[in-house]
Amino acid sequence: MNPPVIGIDIGGTGIKGGLVDPTRGKLLGEPVCVPTPQPATPKAVAQAVALLVADVSVYPEAPAADSPMGVTFPGIIRHGMVHSAANMDRSWLNTDINELLTTRLGRRVEVINDADAAGLAETRYGAGAGVSGAVLVITLGTGIGSALILNGQLMPNVEFGHLEVDGCRAETTTSAVARERDQLSWEEYSVLLQRYFSHVEFLLSPELFIVGGGISQRASEYLPNLKLQTPIVPAVFRNEAGIVGAAIQAFAPEHS
Ligand code: BGC
Repeated sequence: MNPPVIGIDIGGTGIKGGLVDPTRGKLLGEPVCVPTPQPATPKAVAQAVALLVADVSVYPEAPAADSPMGVTFPGIIRHGMVHSAANMDRSWLNTDINELLTTRLGRRVEVINDADAAGLAETRYGAGAGVSGAVLVITLGTGIGSALILNGQLMPNVEFGHLEVDGCRAETTTSAVARERDQLSWEEYSVLLQRYFSHVEFLLSPELFIVGGGISQRASEYLPNLKLQTPIVPAVFRNEAGIVGAAIQAFAPEHS
């Protein structure tokens, strides 16, 4: 077996991490989690990531201290640079996050968009494994993330959470956090999801939708209400797809 790889998933609300067997897409042991520091500046977030890395490094299976690791970020990442940070501090913009974390942690760090990481995990080892054609993973969390995988190949940085639906950016009304903020019942939330997924289905005609993010654990409350031509299923990795995908990315980096 290859040594495990550390995966860390930076979200707008929480930062989670764990050890992953990247060849089986398997989380080893319990993930660890801390709230995202506020304000979520590069320095504060790098410090929180360092603490999580220290936490998982005491596990007996932990890899060598200089082994490469993977991290997700909730924004556009191109060649290691942050190009958007809708739910993070704006001082992230134009930060070389690969370099920042590599220097802070003293090991090579590969950073990938959070939804793209979830997409890699789900299409390699989860709900989209073996599905050919276009698979769209939508994560419902602080924002809405999206990952487009065509015949197993990730097309990075697709930002379908920012599509305009009924005059609003979709993630401002239809994310999991927006549902809580607006105190929507599952029926009310299903109406918003229906509008959103119908629109995306019309634009893309994918083979499969996979719904990720913490709220995928409650999929039975809203997925049966949706009327779509495309099959729609919850993420197998639930809220841990980001950790697993981050580690997969560090093991065999995609070009992003
Ligand atoms: C960001 C995406 C991210 C999503 C989920 C959006 O606001 O633009 O890059 O994947 O939130 O965190």
